[in-house]
Amino acid sequence: MYIINLSVKNIRIIKDLHLSDTKRVNFILGQNAQGKSSILEAMYILATSKSNRTFKDKEFININEDICEIKANVKREKRPDCEIEIVIDKNHKKAFFIDNAKKTKIKDVIGELNCVIFSEEDIEMIKDEPQSRRNFMNLEISQMFPLYTEEYANYKRTLLQRNNTLKDIKNNIRPSYDILDILDLQLSIYGAKLLIRRKKFIEEIAPLSSEIYNIISDKVGDFSLKYSPNPNIDITDEISTQRALFEQISAKRETDLRLGTTNVGPHRDDLEIKINNLPVKNYGSQGEGKSAAFAIKMAEINIIKNITGEYPVVLLDDLMSELDYDRREKTMKIAGENCQIFITTTHLDKLDYNPEDTSIYYIKEGSLLK
Ligand SMILES: Nc1ncnc2c1ncn2[C@@H]1O[C@H](COP(=O)(O)OP(=O)(O)OP(=O)(O)O)[C@@H](O)[C@H]1O
Ligand SMILES: [Mg+2]
Repeated sequence: MYIINLSVKNIRIIKDLHLSDTKRVNFILGQNAQGKSSILEAMYILATSKSNRTFKDKEFININEDICEIKANVKREKRPDCEIEIVIDKNHKKAFFIDNAKKTKIKDVIGELNCVIFSEEDIEMIKDEPQSRRNFMNLEISQMFPLYTEEYANYKRTLLQRNNTLKDIKNNIRPSYDILDILDLQLSIYGAKLLIRRKKFIEEIAPLSSEIYNIISDKVGDFSLKYSPNPNIDITDEISTQRALFEQISAKRETDLRLGTTNVGPHRDDLEIKINNLPVKNYGSQGEGKSAAFAIKMAEINIIKNITGEYPVVLLDDLMSELDYDRREKTMKIAGENCQIFITTTHLDKLDYNPEDTSIYYIKEGSLLK
């Protein structure tokens, strides 16, 4: 899958920018704060409808504008080429167009363009609170299984309703145990779907990440990635998982009522990332954290290929400054072996690249330098 044209309007510092003549390898070159990361962010938004840097759409829309627009022509092997467009306004309204035909549901758009991004946020994900690792799973799984977006939204909505009901009962506002019974059941039905999808995703990605980690790290580290579901139940088929989750939700009801919130379910689960049997979160060096994050993200390339039949577009944000020459070469090779890649950097140095296969774009104050 290749992006052959990209146009970005009103994303952060960028007012109106067009990338054409993209090649397999594309360097986006410029000084700090010129809009390099914003170009990758725009591609990621086009692929997923969400930013990799913020939850708040209004943060990535140019501060002086009310509406932003991203458009790309995508060349695909397994499906016809297409033009994808997304328009987002400050009131969180999103409009999607595939070949100029309006699509109303996000799930009809996600997956048309697949992007794997590696940026600072991924490195932070390793050390941050569990929430950011759950965000990682949510963003990545929804790209591969567009239906997950709906499943996740159903779970979140039910969780909110249940928490409100718990609070109402706790505060004697509208004590309704009947509603709580229904919500317990619904939460277990939607929750089981998330547990199953997340487990499958991590199980697929884990061996690949470990392989990639070994290639890029100097010494062969014993890298492991594991899903820590909440509750810690056997996740098998949907019915058994739903029953087991329901039991755990029921068992925690008294505590939930006392605290006015739901204490068990996939909204509390996490990932366990270890090197030599020690959690990277607590023990890892900075370099190990970076390599671990990179390995996890790059493993996705192959998963996406397995699911969709096509390699995604790879976006590497400031990879150069994070790694030494040897690792840069290895990571570039891993990322760019089969995929189109876009790499932001403040400087190009002796990195090997083939000019025939490469475009270099210079960016200043949000615009391309001719
Ligand atoms: N909503 C917004 N409206 C206008 N400008 C914004 C908005 N959000 C961020 N900016 C500005 O956009 C500029 C470019 O940000 P970006 O992160 O793309 O730069 P960069 O070239 O990747 O820099 P670096 O090399 O430091 O990573 C920053 O100066 C930032 O202050
Ligand atoms: Mg940047």
